[in-house]
Parts: sequence; C-alpha cells; structure tokens
Amino acid sequence: MRIDILTLFPNMVKGPLEESILKRAQKKGLVKINVLNIRSFTHNKHRTADDASYGGGAGMVLKPEPIFEALESVKKSDVRVVLMTPQGKRFDQAIAKGLSREKHLIFICGHYEGIDERVKRIVTDEISIGDYVLTGGELASLVVIDALVRLLPGVLGKEESIICDSFYSGLLDYPHYTRPRVFHGMEVPSVLLSGDHEKIRLWRRAESIKRTLKGRPDLLKQALLNPEDKAILDRLQGK
Ligand code: 6GU
Repeated sequence: MRIDILTLFPNMVKGPLEESILKRAQKKGLVKINVLNIRSFTHNKHRTADDASYGGGAGMVLKPEPIFEALESVKKSDVRVVLMTPQGKRFDQAIAKGLSREKHLIFICGHYEGIDERVKRIVTDEISIGDYVLTGGELASLVVIDALVRLLPGVLGKEESIICDSFYSGLLDYPHYTRPRVFHGMEVPSVLLSGDHEKIRLWRRAESIKRTLKGRPDLLKQALLNPEDKAILDRLQGK
C-alpha cells in the first residue's frame, strides 16, 4: 500500500511514523508512507497557503491551488482521497477495514478555519475521528493510518493478532494478566492458572460481554452474539 499525507505541518506527523509497528511495516515494505508539505506547492512571494475568508469573518482558509497541485504530483488513477475534517463521517473499525483494502490513499489535513470548499471536487472521503475539535487534521490522520496499517496482511505478528482485538467481534476485549501471580496483594484470576482451555475461553468471553455491557452497552445491540453469548448476557442481566 502507498499512503501520501498532505499537510502544512510535516513534523506533526513524521515522528509517530518512525516508531513501533508503523515503522516496522514500512521497513518490511508493506506500506510506503510519504509526507508532502503543502507549502512547497505555493508560488507567491511569501509562500502563503491560506487567505482570508470570502464574505468576511475571522479565521483563514486554506487556498485550493497548492492542495490541487500537491495532489496532482502524487495522484495516479484508482486512489482514495481522504479529507480529514470534523465535518466528516465518524471513523470506526469498519472504515479502517475498508481503507486497508485500498492500494493507494491520500490524506489531506485541513487546518485553520477550514479549507476552500472547491477542494472537495477531488475528495472521495471525508473523515472525522470524533465529536471534538482538533487544531488540524494531522493527529486525526495518524489515528486513521495507525488503525488501518495494522490491518494490512503481514504487519502484525501472531502475538499481536487482530482476531482478539476489541471491536473485532463487536465486543470490548477481556482482561489480560502476566507475571507476577500476585502484585500488591492483587491475584490473577485462578481460572487463568487452571490450564483448562475451555473454561478459560468461556471466562474470557463472559468478561468481554460483562465489560461491554458496563462500558459500551450501545455496542451490544450490534454485536454478533451466538447462543452461548446470549446465555452469558442473560445471566449477567439476571434473566
Ligand atoms: Cl479530522 N480534524 C479536526 N480539525 N478536528 C477533528 C477531526 C479532524 N476529527 C475530530 N476532530
């Protein structure tokens, strides 16, 4: 996969791409991530990429020409052009999965009060990462890129398997423990030391359902629950 990030603040995104799993995925050649500075596509004397808003009002607007030109420099056919904006569709695991199947993605990071509306002519997707306002799309694009790159085949080892992820089955993850067996007086649940794999599987599934019921009951309505899960849920709800 190839990813291009168009931004006025390249240093805001470069650091995180050079750490951990994102770094490893690039080293392995599974994804090529390229950061473009929108300012390098300006031609006026002061290299301004923004201007005052037509109609008046406070705040600057990103000009369309540098963004179009930056895009033309990397755009081939068959590319999804993602505009990061609080007005976009709310990001979730299903969107991450869809994006991870593409060959080429371009992310445009908005900034200031907004971006000239005519840029949307070349945008295929608008994504927001939640209902709050960030100073720009840079951190949001990293969230989206992190979530989709880890879904690319070969990126995660089996120790980091995505089958066990929260949200993979529509439920939150179960609790995890490692050594020591007792820490500050708190013991690891004895079932996990029992060696009884079927009992452990059931305990984990019940804990997942318990957590989801407590923290994100909205997720349970859409989760794919088998009859065994439904029995666990009924028991938790005292039915
Ligand atoms: Cl994509 N951009 C900005 N500026 N704020 C956000 C966002 C994006 N997603 C949530 N808040």
